[in-house]
Amino acid sequence: MLAGDLLAWGLPRLRDLPWRRTRDPWAVLVSEVMLQQTQVPRVIPKWQAFMAAYPATADCAAAPLGDVLRLWQGLGYPRRARNLHAAAAQVEALGGFPTTLDGLLALPGVGQYTARAVLAFAFEADAAVVDTNIARVHARVAGRRLTSGEVQRAADAALPRGQAWAWNQCLMDLGATVCRPQAPQCAECPLLARCAWHGQGEDPAPGSAGVSRPQARFDGSDRQARGRLLKALAAGPVPKAEIAAVMARPAANAAALADALMAEGLCVAEGDRVRLP
Ligand code: ADE
Repeated sequence: MLAGDLLAWGLPRLRDLPWRRTRDPWAVLVSEVMLQQTQVPRVIPKWQAFMAAYPATADCAAAPLGDVLRLWQGLGYPRRARNLHAAAAQVEALGGFPTTLDGLLALPGVGQYTARAVLAFAFEADAAVVDTNIARVHARVAGRRLTSGEVQRAADAALPRGQAWAWNQCLMDLGATVCRPQAPQCAECPLLARCAWHGQGEDPAPGSAGVSRPQARFDGSDRQARGRLLKALAAGPVPKAEIAAVMARPAANAAALADALMAEGLCVAEGDRVRLP
């Protein structure tokens, strides 16, 4: 994959996203955690509100988790909020943001993707990130399904030294706008000449490492029921006797889901009511 082609295509088209205007590692971490499972248009206002409330790790670490969960409303996958809150506390305890891959990986909720994203997007260090968009591009360029080791090695090999910030952002935008999961726009692709797949025959991306499958149905899911309870809790404590009605689930199922939320530290029991932590 030739760096010049992608950067020449991508830099003039780079989407102007608010987290691309900062190099603050906390702001970058928050954006990348939000973007893991939520689409860009929904993340933008949430990221802005979150950063206004918690401009620094100290602000987030000092807040009750319940306040962070309230701000998270509507984003889903609330364990991410719990992990961010814990990561903020850990950064405070460390006295500063880790600047190495291993240091970042030790933060709660930070995996290979997020650690490299902070390295590249906050510190402009030579780290190749592999999210679902980038994994799809590499599988298609290679023309076959890749293992997780292969896709990270392909990403590392393609990375132009000193340009990790721009390179990774351009690759993400290529994956989001041209090398899309469905109906890829191969005719517009700057990598077409070096792409083994080039839109012909079976798409190697589905089933390749790091390429996410479509999200599971939300209607009728446990995620939906959990979300209903957390939404009610954001407004105030809920009597245990009302949990099943709030979740719109049979009593035994609702009780099990509420127990799981408590075990995850996302809500707490207090007498005959539950509330946010
Ligand atoms: N998805 C994950 N990280 C992103 C970023 N930095 N910009 C746009 N979309 C993303």
